[in-house]
Amino acid sequence: MRIVILNDQTSVAEAAADIFVDQVSSKPDSVLGLATGSTPIALYKVLCHRFSCGKLSLKGCATFNLDEYVGLEGHHEQSYRTFMNKHLFRHVDLLPQRIHMLDGVADDPVAECRAYEDRIREAGGIDLQLLGIGQNGHIGFNEPSSSLASRTRIKTLTPNTIEANRRFFSADEFQPRLALTMGIGTIMETRHVLLLATGKEKAEAVRQAVEGSVSARCPASVLQFHPRATLLLDGAAASRLEDTQYYLHAEDENRHL
Ligand code: F6R
Repeated sequence: MRIVILNDQTSVAEAAADIFVDQVSSKPDSVLGLATGSTPIALYKVLCHRFSCGKLSLKGCATFNLDEYVGLEGHHEQSYRTFMNKHLFRHVDLLPQRIHMLDGVADDPVAECRAYEDRIREAGGIDLQLLGIGQNGHIGFNEPSSSLASRTRIKTLTPNTIEANRRFFSADEFQPRLALTMGIGTIMETRHVLLLATGKEKAEAVRQAVEGSVSARCPASVLQFHPRATLLLDGAAASRLEDTQYYLHAEDENRHL
């Protein structure tokens, strides 16, 4: 695991954007795995800016989002498709036919998840997978107790996650309790995982993911087994790590390589 501790959320977004730009420059037809939630919004803003300055083109890329709520149409205001349109898709040159998202209202969710896995495989696998982390250590919507070998499937959200996401829904609005999500096994097959965490609410989950035992209690801890996982953290999210001095030292040394 590469642990990069940065000053603030802006530096995390800029560093993540650099990794995306490098990926797409070295492979213009990259397959990108994308995430929603509050954390990547700043990154998407930077990517849109770089696109508008001519420093990035996603025309050759394909994208696969991690998850989608069950029961929300793609055009619903709180669907992850709407989120992605708002924060990224409508501002860049991705071709609509190369944008892949799980369908939260599919008649047959099991077949939908299986087909999603097939589409990822047919696209050649995911080159760079963006992740956030839940306060309970979830990645995608793989909640604690998810099989570390799980594939894309339907998942029951924990009360904790429902509560954390309540801020996005108005009081009288239907809030989904189920989601379709890429599995942990699916995420582990991606070639490079880029996890972003900002804010002190994530500090305990980050500590368990990086320095705790690998366990389904903290799904993100499985990234300790990933051959190429980069974690970009702000100081608050890194505040509970014990080996901070080593992570800073290693980054410093790597700059001279
Ligand atoms: C979203 C996703 C989730 C979020 C996580 C953190 O596509 O897969 O795992 O990354 O819930 O969300 P924020 O960034 O809102 O704290």
